[in-house]
Amino acid sequence: MLIRTQDHGFIHPDSFEITPRAVYEQRRRFLLQGLAAGALGAAAGGAFAQSAGYAPAGKLTSLPFTRSKAAGAVTMEKITAYKDATSYNNFYEFGTDKADPARNASTLRTRPWKVEVAGLVGKPRTFDIEELLKLSAQEERVYRLRCVEGWSMVIPWIGYSLSELIKRVEPTPAAKYVEFVTLADKATMPFIGSRVLDWPYTEGLRLDEAMHPLTLLSFGMYGEVLPNQNGAPVRLVVPWKYGFKSAKSIVKIVLTDKEPGTAWNKAAKNEYGFYSNVNPEVDHPRWSQASERRIGEDGLFAKKRKTLIFNGYEAQVGQLYAGMDLKKFY
Ligand code: MTE
Repeated sequence: MLIRTQDHGFIHPDSFEITPRAVYEQRRRFLLQGLAAGALGAAAGGAFAQSAGYAPAGKLTSLPFTRSKAAGAVTMEKITAYKDATSYNNFYEFGTDKADPARNASTLRTRPWKVEVAGLVGKPRTFDIEELLKLSAQEERVYRLRCVEGWSMVIPWIGYSLSELIKRVEPTPAAKYVEFVTLADKATMPFIGSRVLDWPYTEGLRLDEAMHPLTLLSFGMYGEVLPNQNGAPVRLVVPWKYGFKSAKSIVKIVLTDKEPGTAWNKAAKNEYGFYSNVNPEVDHPRWSQASERRIGEDGLFAKKRKTLIFNGYEAQVGQLYAGMDLKKFY
């Protein structure tokens, strides 16, 4: 992503700090992980490890779930190693280096935690995280996550459709958009107060995008609760949009009649639009979006893989944008 420097210039950090040795080690780890998952599945009938092809990390509290049956909810692509998904992160509240969130986010306090749902709704409410966890059945969805920087991962998320929550607060007919506000706590987040972004980090969706069954309110990954660096205790995952739309550590959800501002749109309007749908045909003003590198699989010198329109979810979400000029509404 862009980083605003002290003199208001912009730099684009190298996103691919993976050395060939690291790539080799990641591949080896992946193979071992696959074997471990197979063994565990066969021995214990461990449903998720067996079917999804990953080993539960065994580090955090496990979350019960069933595999999602929603159309497009489970890609059969290789799952990114847990270690990579939890050590190569964007969570600017904890620093701008990919390794910073894993290093610094242990200070995040995820209990007590409340999420306020307000704005143009008939039944505004504040949910305690324990209540939110049980609001609907937890499902596993294996989604691709494509970052605007040109890398991607495949992650087994746990959660339920955001629509389950929105339905319960009864949006009024005037509600057209949903704003997501995330935690901005100076005491526990070392980069709050830095000038990198306007805090709190906010994001937004059109109401129909927010109500789409693939839009996931996520509480966990790899069979366990979310690690802090991945947005604990509750985040959004919108698989057909660039990763920055997937707001982490949400504290407030507001239904509005106007398109809300978003963190990256406010930082650089001409570079990050409101929609931010993954689109290989619309380049970022300073780099192409036509291809991507899969973290943990594609080495620095490997041929990049082609990026798919809507990140491969066109069959499920393409109709949301029928008739729209996607070059204008990028
Ligand atoms: N949410 C908050 N609160 N702060 C952030 O800096 N970064 C975004 C998004 N959500 C971000 C955030 C970006 S740029 C990406 S690519 C994804 O989180 C990364 O999610 P991951 O670390 O789980 O891969």
